[in-house]
Amino acid sequence: MRILSGLQPSGRLHIGNFFGMMEPALKLQHEGDAYYFIADYHSLTSVHDGKALRGYVRELAVDFLACGLDPTKCVFFRQSDVPEHTELSWILSTVTPMGLLERCHSYKDKIANGISASHGLFAYPVLMAADILLYESDVVPVGRDQKQHVEVTRDIAIKMNETFGAGLFKLPNPRIQESTAVVPGLDGQKMSKSYDNTIPLFAPRPELKKLIAGIKTDSRAPGEAKSTEGSALFQIYQAFASAEETAAFAQDFANGIAWGDAKDRLFERIDFEIAPMRARYEWLMAHPQEVEVMLHAGAAKARAVATPFMARLRQAVGLRSLATATTRGPAKAAKAAAASFKQYREKDGQFYFKLVDAKGALLLQSLGLDSPQAAGKAIALLKAQGAGALAELQPLLAPFDAQHAPLLQALHALSTPAE
Ligand code: ADP
Ligand code: TRP
Repeated sequence: MRILSGLQPSGRLHIGNFFGMMEPALKLQHEGDAYYFIADYHSLTSVHDGKALRGYVRELAVDFLACGLDPTKCVFFRQSDVPEHTELSWILSTVTPMGLLERCHSYKDKIANGISASHGLFAYPVLMAADILLYESDVVPVGRDQKQHVEVTRDIAIKMNETFGAGLFKLPNPRIQESTAVVPGLDGQKMSKSYDNTIPLFAPRPELKKLIAGIKTDSRAPGEAKSTEGSALFQIYQAFASAEETAAFAQDFANGIAWGDAKDRLFERIDFEIAPMRARYEWLMAHPQEVEVMLHAGAAKARAVATPFMARLRQAVGLRSLATATTRGPAKAAKAAAASFKQYREKDGQFYFKLVDAKGALLLQSLGLDSPQAAGKAIALLKAQGAGALAELQPLLAPFDAQHAPLLQALHALSTPAE
């Protein structure tokens, strides 16, 4: 089962985002082949400040990791490191009916709120469809307000299959965690950045305390029974607590707990849950380089899937295949693209290998290894997995650019059996 989801970097992660998408998605990370990414191309529809966007991307990457994403289990990457997303989006847009996009609630809501829409905002669901379809995803864990976008993705996939061949695209299914599908904000409406009623998940303790103190309650006095129904405070508590804790808290409401005490209880409960994650969040925020390395390795793994997918699709729709892209004829092209591994021993007594293209230009260089077997094993892995093996082999390799197209194409050609 392939699981895929993304979040837009557009501000601080709040409790609604955490329970609507982050937590349900991370619970699934050990149940299949999970792909999680930072949707920075999507954020460009609302953030037009490069410095701010870079900050949001960094923060969201740290959020994912601090919340428990395991980068050795999942493919964790930044959308814009995999340009195949935008290429696929264009191809999908050529079969997407305008009416399908005009019906999207999130677009209609923005228009109703007087936001003047760009073409990018209108086309947002097509890019999201590309994100999902590129990896042949089965399950897409998202919050309820994104369900319609996954349905649009299915419609686009059906249209592509009808147009270019059955079986080209796999139909994904949304997965919504119903118990926390809508977490209320400070004012009782749905928690959302747009309503300015959020509790950021990693707010420092004093800020968290202050925000919780501001949660809207009714005017019932201490000792008076309180209703849990429609209480934002109660619902936020419920999102964090076990069934037993929730039942006990409901009993306290019936017994007339004072609002101030109820708020203290909520603060303690959230703080207890967040404290270990907050420590990791702070460490990662102070070590952006470590995060960047993980994202790079993730992008190489994502491209190892995305590049061959696009090569197949390009053939199907009549565009040149990426794997054989050259101005010469296809047979010659394949030959020209043929790269090979060389194994050798240096004067230092150590064993090396390198990957060179047909003209002998260096594409990848190993560091010194103890035995020819170690070199052979690394080469075998690259031949079996292509660019997907780069992250694992990184410690054995001299620094390389994981985005270098000739390198990725050569590895793709070597790891794909000839037709
Ligand atoms: P915001 O409304 O704050 O701008 P986004 O639209 O960026 O949040 O939502 C990101 C993800 O978090 C989506 O999957 C969305 O469904 C989920 N989400 C956002 N707010 C809530 C909420 N209050 N309750 C549950 N899920 C939410
Ligand atoms: N649109 C999603 C949101 O606002 C983010 C997103 C972009 C996404 N591409 C995706 C979610 C693909 C799931 C799958 O939250």
